[in-house]
Amino acid sequence: MSKEFAGKSVIVTGAASGIGKAAAYRFADEGAKVCVADLNIAGAETVAQALKDKGAEAFATKVDVSVKDDNDRMVAETVAAFGGLDAAFLNAGYYGPGTSFFDEDVTAFDRIIAINLRGCFLGIRAVAKAIRSGGAIVVTGSTGGIMGLGINPAYSASKHGLIGLVRSAAEPLAERGVRINAILPGGVNTPLNFGEMVDTYYPPEELKMPPFRGYGESQHIAEFALFLASPRAAFINGGAHVADGGLTSSFAAVMPATAPT
Ligand SMILES: NC(=O)c1ccc[n+]([C@@H]2O[C@H](COP(=O)([O-])OP(=O)(O)OC[C@H]3O[C@@H](n4cnc5c(N)ncnc54)[C@H](O)[C@@H]3O)[C@@H](O)[C@H]2O)c1
Repeated sequence: MSKEFAGKSVIVTGAASGIGKAAAYRFADEGAKVCVADLNIAGAETVAQALKDKGAEAFATKVDVSVKDDNDRMVAETVAAFGGLDAAFLNAGYYGPGTSFFDEDVTAFDRIIAINLRGCFLGIRAVAKAIRSGGAIVVTGSTGGIMGLGINPAYSASKHGLIGLVRSAAEPLAERGVRINAILPGGVNTPLNFGEMVDTYYPPEELKMPPFRGYGESQHIAEFALFLASPRAAFINGGAHVADGGLTSSFAAVMPATAPT
């Protein structure tokens, strides 16, 4: 069977770790040429080298997605290296130390919004200028973008805003033959939640269903990103799609057990 992304040029941001790393591996498995973009250039170089060792075309680039010129350079480098751009997985994100309405210092608030919201806008903007007709953009949001998060309102607000950007981008991008969608993961087993950890990788057919409302694997999200970036998802556009193992499907049993008298 021919590989789904054979010869296609793909950018993955946040590709040094977690979900982005899994997606970079899976795009390469499927024949894509991959720009491995991350603020963590050492991690990005390790991933790019691993892809090359597997026979893929890949290069690493250092990008702070909150910086306009970095996004523009990332796209220009990809077009120069691979002759064009067919898909982008704008996945880089930052949870930070948490934020609170009672914080004096709003540095963390500003950084989270800069990466997750401004970074999303700048990434879409840069990619839109170069991506070929028939291409697709996938952005990583969060279930924190459809529910509040008392321990990190900046993160929740940034991911709510990201959905607005994705929905707003759908019509102008469609005029150029390009689709855009957001994935809203629930809890995923990555360094964002658990710090240093060993990556897992499975052949797609061996991926397991996690416990209800449990943590997923990076690859669960990566598989969804590949699907949304592929022509198999040609009718799916402008959406924000939950992938959360049932986390937001129904109320958890957290309400008082007794009714008021
Ligand atoms: N892990 C979860 O439970 C979870 C849940 C919902 C959404 N998400 C989202 O998934 C995406 C990927 O997160 P992950 O869980 O794989 O985390 P991760 O920490 O493993 O990976 C995030 C990557 O983004 C990079 N990054 C951070 N700031 C950057 C910047 N300014 N410019 C470029 N790269 C930057 C980091 O260096 C890191 O390699 C994020 O957008 C995150 O908000 C994660």
